[in-house]
Amino acid sequence: MYTLKEKTVVTLRVNGEDRQALIRPGDILLDTLRDGLGLTGAKPGCLNGDCGACTVLVDGTPIKSCLMLTAEAVGHEITTVEGLSDTPIQRAFIELFAFQCGYCTSGFLMVCHALAGQMQTPPDAVIDEWLESNICRCTSYEEIGKAVRAVLNGEIK
Ligand code: FES
Ligand code: FES
Repeated sequence: MYTLKEKTVVTLRVNGEDRQALIRPGDILLDTLRDGLGLTGAKPGCLNGDCGACTVLVDGTPIKSCLMLTAEAVGHEITTVEGLSDTPIQRAFIELFAFQCGYCTSGFLMVCHALAGQMQTPPDAVIDEWLESNICRCTSYEEIGKAVRAVLNGEIK
């Protein structure tokens, strides 16, 4: 349990490294990652939990970082899209053209990476349900679904 004064330095575990950030009690994780730590892969979109552009993993679970206080993330393992370089899901998105403008892509990558890590052969309905957590405004969801299925069935490693 952390009691924060007006501004406090906290240590966050991000992409396998300890990073220090100066935060206020009300700072959200999205802003700390982007403005405090220079990790701009998580994107601000709706800022109310609907679009998923800000998704990161906290202890392996997709979390909308616009809804999490930075203070709540202390002591947890945070993964951002910067930590997913050279992963099967990143290769799958590229090979199967699962993006257009790319603004939503980091959020979808986080969700799909977590899904592939947690389940081996989820039914289509479960995949669709996971993808419903995020919104893409310019590509179809078909390519995104194909990308995560390609990782799940071992076509792309
Ligand atoms: S910016 Fe966080 S869900 Fe949209
Ligand atoms: S690729 Fe443009 S919003 Fe999804």
